[in-house]
Amino acid sequence: MLLVYSSKTGFTERYANWIKEELNCDIAELKTISRETLARYETVIYGGGIYAGKINGLAKFKNLLQRPHRQGQKIIVYATGAAPAEAKGTVENVIKNNISEQDRGAIPVFYFQSGLNYERMGLVSKFMMKILPHILKRKKDKTPEDEAMVEAIKQSFDSTDKKYIQPLLDHVRTA
Ligand SMILES: Cc1cc2nc3c(=O)[nH]c(=O)nc-3n(C[C@H](O)[C@H](O)[C@H](O)COP(=O)(O)O)c2cc1C
Repeated sequence: MLLVYSSKTGFTERYANWIKEELNCDIAELKTISRETLARYETVIYGGGIYAGKINGLAKFKNLLQRPHRQGQKIIVYATGAAPAEAKGTVENVIKNNISEQDRGAIPVFYFQSGLNYERMGLVSKFMMKILPHILKRKKDKTPEDEAMVEAIKQSFDSTDKKYIQPLLDHVRTA
């Protein structure tokens, strides 16, 4: 089993290390991985942070998979994001925005709440975080979640917790 991840500010990497500790699998950053290496593993977990709804690196990861997809190779995806997992639609939207309808049955997706780290963000990310409150404030049908988000994203926060990986561990261990 191999865990491949891409992480800009460290949250997805922290979850990757927690999962590796539990599953004892190989681990590699997406930028170091080749098509040939990927093809050797029976199960591959991919993890990335959510940036404006999209799972970072997932498109690149999918391009590295063999086509047609190797029979029997299992793909599992996890996404980390600032939104609370309990917020209405969080997980559904991650799936809708990132996994094609034809893949939905075959690729399980897990969501782990993370946080924001302004210290490790690049300039573009910092800029996007600066304009986001203005966009949210102008939204017509603002939900209580939107209001809470405007407050939450003003500063760095860290809501990571090892317990969130349990459903993924259970899935892998019972599969
Ligand atoms: C520019 C930007 C856009 C983001 N968009 C979302 C988002 O749409 N939904 C969400 O839940 N979190 C969002 N986040 C928070 C990140 O998903 C979160 O910090 C993630 O864990 C980052 O993972 P990484 O540090 O491993 O790259 C965003 C963060 C930044 C900086």
